[in-house]
Amino acid sequence: MKVEPASSIDGAIAVPGVKGISQRAVLLGAIADGESRIEGFGRAADTETAISVVRQLGVEVDEDGPETVRVHGAGLRGLRAPREPLDFGNAGTVLRLSSGILAGQEGRFELVGDESLSARPQERIAEPLREMGAHVETTDGHAPVVIEGGPLSPIRYELPVASAQVKSAVLLAGLLAEGGATRVVEPRPSRDHTERLLRELGVAAKRRGNEISVAPVDHLPPLAIQIAGDFSSAAPFVVAATLLSGSELLVQGVNVNPLRTGLIDVLARMGANIAVFNRRSVGGEPVADLEVRSAQLVATRVGAEEVPRLIDELPLVALAAAMARGETVITGAAELRVKETDRIETVTTSLKALGMHITAGDDGFRVRGVPTRPKGGGVDSVGDHRLAMLGAVAGLVSREGVRLEGADAVAISFPGFFDLLESVTRR
Ligand code: S3P
Repeated sequence: MKVEPASSIDGAIAVPGVKGISQRAVLLGAIADGESRIEGFGRAADTETAISVVRQLGVEVDEDGPETVRVHGAGLRGLRAPREPLDFGNAGTVLRLSSGILAGQEGRFELVGDESLSARPQERIAEPLREMGAHVETTDGHAPVVIEGGPLSPIRYELPVASAQVKSAVLLAGLLAEGGATRVVEPRPSRDHTERLLRELGVAAKRRGNEISVAPVDHLPPLAIQIAGDFSSAAPFVVAATLLSGSELLVQGVNVNPLRTGLIDVLARMGANIAVFNRRSVGGEPVADLEVRSAQLVATRVGAEEVPRLIDELPLVALAAAMARGETVITGAAELRVKETDRIETVTTSLKALGMHITAGDDGFRVRGVPTRPKGGGVDSVGDHRLAMLGAVAGLVSREGVRLEGADAVAISFPGFFDLLESVTRR
């Protein structure tokens, strides 16, 4: 695909429901009693994986249109081990969160993923789940992961990395542990969608400083939830509108959970013009509308403290920094190396190829900004959805456009990405 340069971004958009909440809602619905109803389901390959996995586990799921999903819960310990491996495709969140639930189910479960998912570290979930009493084997630290579930005991676990996926796996296992609360201590706050959903279900999920505790339950009531737009899906549009002069973009109904919106703070520091208004609460999560106008940016620093709040948006921060005045330094982001690709390498390679001045560090990037349009060229997503979206935005802000290889990777989180982008692009 060729992404041609744009003059500006202009219009109003809404993006599909939060991917991580859509996945969590399906998983929790699967172990709840009765029928859970999910509205605003963010349909994408990674969320469909949550549905196909719970179906493999014997749960009935009805899809009433693209954004409404009904899950007929099998009860807290009612999941059935299938004979075939559970296929998680590219969906790391679903694999890791499911592991926590499966650790407390009777049976032997084999969890497999695609090539990218099979390269990602899984000892980080295996270790705490073993400590709770489950039998968990990884393949040299990776998928296939084999879990033999059974009775679990509560633990207090200090996360070695700030990872919402690992935190959630332990908390979900904690629902099934007998004899007291399971506690997870995180080095820095990471997204709390799991905790919020549990509270919606009446479960005592409490935070004290950086420690989150969850009490075991006998059963979960069904969930009725409305999911707002995914901030990570809105982010490429926000960055494109910021970088293209004369832009005016309205994003309606987007989840603005403060543990997800670090990009707004970083861009604001760089001089961006982003208004957050019409704040409300939907399904236990903060939601708002965003208004973005273009701005000339200046360089900034992003460090470990801030990283969990914008981990999936750091590729876009690197692009914004490449067009800002001055040198931007991003550190404390070694986790980028174990995402769908090694995003420190893939982002550096991609932006360099388009004429930008970026160097990879062990745990981040150094970007020398040039406040004019980069030349353009070719980008290969190598199957990474966030890289495909980065390449698309880079194409719009470039002088000569970007030939995007592997553009279809956007379907992992946002199948309608290119149509929506085209609808607000002025050339
Ligand atoms: C996610 C957590 C983050 C993020 C991922 C989704 C989640 O991963 O990068 O895209 O839904 O919990 P880590 O928890 O591994 O940092």
